[in-house]
Amino acid sequence: RVVAVIMVGGPTKGTRFRPLSLNIPKPLFPLAGQPMVHHPIYACRRIPNLAQVYLIGFYEEREFALYVSAISNELRVPVRYLREDKPHGSAGGLYSFRDYIMEDSPSYIFLLNCDVCCSFPLPEMLDAHKGYGGMGTILVSKVSAESANQFGELVADPVTKELLHYTEKPETFVSELINCGVYVFTPNIFASIEDVFMQRRGKAELRRVTSFEALQSATKAIPADYVRLDQDILSPLAGKKEFYTYETLDFWEQIKTPGMSLKCSALYLHQFRYTSPHLLASEHSAKRATIIGDVYIHPSAKIHPTAKIGPNVSISANARIGAGVRLISCIILDDVEVLENAVVIHSIVGWKSSIGKWSRVQGEGDYNAKLGSTILGEFGFCRR
Ligand code: GDD
Repeated sequence: RVVAVIMVGGPTKGTRFRPLSLNIPKPLFPLAGQPMVHHPIYACRRIPNLAQVYLIGFYEEREFALYVSAISNELRVPVRYLREDKPHGSAGGLYSFRDYIMEDSPSYIFLLNCDVCCSFPLPEMLDAHKGYGGMGTILVSKVSAESANQFGELVADPVTKELLHYTEKPETFVSELINCGVYVFTPNIFASIEDVFMQRRGKAELRRVTSFEALQSATKAIPADYVRLDQDILSPLAGKKEFYTYETLDFWEQIKTPGMSLKCSALYLHQFRYTSPHLLASEHSAKRATIIGDVYIHPSAKIHPTAKIGPNVSISANARIGAGVRLISCIILDDVEVLENAVVIHSIVGWKSSIGKWSRVQGEGDYNAKLGSTILGEFGFCRR
């Protein structure tokens, strides 16, 4: 059997995603009309013998309760939210729920970062992993040399695919091959995380008995129960025949900024052509409005037949799009109204905003912009 765990973080994480993450937890922000975390959960359905999907995070339980029960019914996969009392790091979070995770006696455990956008080739990774052996296989991808330092950079054996060297966000260039934040492990991963705990506790103990200055520096040290998968596990175990790599040639992006959510929305909308074509709007489903390229429209949204929408547009629940409106590359959130002849381009329009008649709202299309060029906030409006 196989279990999948998705790390969703918590309110102190995802600060670069503000202001969008002030209203709802970042993992529930819609990309292509579906919550961010929906995409990895949906991909998990392709894993053979999947017993359970766990979301681990330190958001309040109630923030995920509704979503978790809805998605379990919709996908017919048991999905459960497990809440950490405080952040334990990516590996520490996994370890703190080892008893739940091992309940189904899985032979393999997938671990997925919630804030990555890719095609999640999970069954293919599992097959590759079974061929390699070892404790785990990491999904990797090639990126440009200039952007590689935002990620874990690694070196793999070109023939055996063994992970030979791993450095997290290095200052000097190591490799264009980066860690995509998607892993498959055997249960032996828990023993490796436990080893890190033991070493930390041992060191803390030693510091306590050696000197006062050392004790002071120990208070600044990482807490003993905080373990990072990358720095604390992958780096020291690289080159020991424990970890292997599986390279994806498909799309891969990290979703840290609001601007990136526009780009990732486009990637997922495009993927719907192959995975969920029924979610893409057509002129028929959009009440005769003109649809260009990939567009998602929530069934409760009201679209005027003279509106022209797309490409890369997703429109959430109860939005009202007026006569003659033009929407290009944008995310329209719940309860927004866009009045007659307004134009919205490269923008995210926040919950309950109102765009006035003949307005033009246009972002620069810079996907890495931290605050997005144009994000209209809740109750924000723009009228002429
Ligand atoms: N539950 C929980 N608890 N989740 C956590 C915690 C924690 O204490 N800390 C981080 N996460 C979640 C985040 O929400 C995110 O989904 C994932 O774990 C990784 O977050 P970080 O550890 O902050 O790393 P990062 O996103 O900056 O970089 C990691 O992912 C990149 C790929 O997106 C690294 O593994 C990089 O090497 C990698 O390239």
